[in-house]
Amino acid sequence: MIYFDNAATTLPKPNGVGEAMVEALNKFGNPSRGGHRFSLDGARIIYETRELLAKLFNIESPLNIAFTQNSTMSLNMAILGLKLELGDEIVSSTLEHNSVLRPLYKLEKLGVEVKFIDSNNIGNLNYEKLEKSITSKTKAIVVTHGSNLTGNLVDLEKIGKIVKNNNLLFIVDGSQTAGVFPIDVKKFNIDILCFTGHKGLMGPGGVGGIYVSPNIDLDGYIVGGSGSHSFDHEHPKTMPDKLEAGTPNIHGLAGLNASLKYIFEVGVDKIREKELKLARFFYDEIENINGIKIYGDFNTKYRAPIVSLNLGDIPSSDLALALEEDYDIATRSGIHCAPLMHTDFKTEEQGMVRFSFSHFNTREEIKIAVEGLKELGTNI
Ligand code: ALA
Repeated sequence: MIYFDNAATTLPKPNGVGEAMVEALNKFGNPSRGGHRFSLDGARIIYETRELLAKLFNIESPLNIAFTQNSTMSLNMAILGLKLELGDEIVSSTLEHNSVLRPLYKLEKLGVEVKFIDSNNIGNLNYEKLEKSITSKTKAIVVTHGSNLTGNLVDLEKIGKIVKNNNLLFIVDGSQTAGVFPIDVKKFNIDILCFTGHKGLMGPGGVGGIYVSPNIDLDGYIVGGSGSHSFDHEHPKTMPDKLEAGTPNIHGLAGLNASLKYIFEVGVDKIREKELKLARFFYDEIENINGIKIYGDFNTKYRAPIVSLNLGDIPSSDLALALEEDYDIATRSGIHCAPLMHTDFKTEEQGMVRFSFSHFNTREEIKIAVEGLKELGTNI
């Protein structure tokens, strides 16, 4: 099968990821809960993984990164842990995934005003509107770095300046870009960065993380075993323990450790260039196919390696099924948990078929998809 659903999770994983997980299963004890070597070996891998991530995102102290299950958990911790109150305001966008939207809807119920800045006709965030929406009550801006639907990027440097000028907090969802595009928390003035391990970071599912800048006191909503201060009724307040109650997913983290080493070995720039070339090749080959509608901004050099489309009025689920049954191609159809983007594009009913690439894909695979779409396009 040809796999073009890398925005959902990358497949295959690099060599060494599975092996590292199996080794961890067979060799590691419970990290940080014992003083013996089985425990300490696991703890070392966890610390090294923090260090690799700190290097990737230009984070000063690896201890300011806590591990979670995924971006959704990290974003819940970030958005709901800020202690916002009745009358406070927060600014976000229609590019967001439900992992941002749903915690924000919860805040709305608590009386926080949430402003969703809409996009233009090619799915780009309106920065002018965003800046104008800020008032004296605004506390934070939360945006994705890259739309999981169109692949359009958000200019973090630009928003980082707006954040600084207005003394706000900046929360970034790096789900679709971590490991593929440079994210520099210092340069972009990011206060909280949420990421997952199984997409561009090419690790296994079930591991993600959150960076919290040292001057922010997030409320941790899960408390329990910390392996320290055990007589205290309160969970430790220092990072990363504060956000890491319970036994960590050491087997998943060992896989993430291996995938991060692979990324550093190959290089983020090289991975990105290959993915962008493949996505551009696909776009150039399909843009004139009969009945095709492609969504997003393809005039920019940099965009996540995603091409979302429709063919005529074919429901996106039918098109994805035809691609799978007739051409053995895996894509993702429907709404992709990004309902407001579909409202902006008026594709709430049809959805879209999303092709998303990894650097393991090839031009030959893309040519098969192009031929498939051409054939399907002749029948509409
Ligand atoms: N958030 C993932 C996607 O975009 C699952 O497909």
